[in-house]
Amino acid sequence: MNISYFDSLIDARREGYVSDHVHLGLFPDAGPVETLGAAQTRMALHHLAPLGLRDGASIVDIGCGFGGALRLIDGQLARARLTGVNIDPRQIDVAKDSNWRNPVDWLLCDAAQFSSGRAQWADCILSLEAMFHFPDPAGFFAACAQALRPGGRMVASTILFAPEAGGASVASVCQGFGPWPDPYMTLARLCAMATDAGLIVQRSENLAPMCLPGFDWMCPTCPPEVTDNPVIELRRLFEAGHATYPMIVLCADDQAGGKTQK
Ligand SMILES: C[S@@+](CC[C@H](N)C(=O)[O-])C[C@H]1O[C@@H](n2cnc3c(N)ncnc32)[C@H](O)[C@@H]1O
Repeated sequence: MNISYFDSLIDARREGYVSDHVHLGLFPDAGPVETLGAAQTRMALHHLAPLGLRDGASIVDIGCGFGGALRLIDGQLARARLTGVNIDPRQIDVAKDSNWRNPVDWLLCDAAQFSSGRAQWADCILSLEAMFHFPDPAGFFAACAQALRPGGRMVASTILFAPEAGGASVASVCQGFGPWPDPYMTLARLCAMATDAGLIVQRSENLAPMCLPGFDWMCPTCPPEVTDNPVIELRRLFEAGHATYPMIVLCADDQAGGKTQK
């Protein structure tokens, strides 16, 4: 399945105009003091920190884009087993197309299917700014619970909209950055799905305020009227405080021995 907002990004990546990260970036200080590319690296490192990466680990990135986070891991670890999961075959082709020093498996499938037929083979799972796309988030968490070894760690982030968010802005974002099947998903529901799957939610952190300066790199300021530009409308929702960007830190029970997916 081709994710349509990647159509132009794929050419831009091949020509070297954009980085290998496709997300909003993390600007911890007020104001755009660093480039979007540097902020994207910072965002990826912020997600990787709770995973406790170590040599010998099996690490999975679900919704891996062009492989930016996996490439950071590849630079840090000399003996790891990496897996990139994506539904869009064109992104996997771009991600594959560089030198990797660790072995990488590329899985072309939906996020809920990446562990079909296999259990307890992953030590760390990452999913950075991708869950809002997933048609079956409960199935995604179930697949993660199945894949993780006892005591394995997971970090997943997404974008959520508040019930009071303007419908026209939300519609513009969902149209431009689709699929976005459930824009009014809540953090409580996601955490309940993860818990039902057998995962332990350790903490969550809203990164939205630290994403705001990135919009200066991506689009003009918001005009008063709603537009059909999804980046401007995403900016409007972030600036109004109607969007959150939860990063959820989870782990597999180190006693339970994993759960079996039906
Ligand atoms: C905003 S991009 C983030 C990419 C990457 N995580 C990064 O940090 O650069 C969202 C990613 O989710 C992927 N994606 C969308 N739907 C998916 C699905 N159902 N299963 C797996 N991946 C999916 C997209 O193809 C895209 O690579």
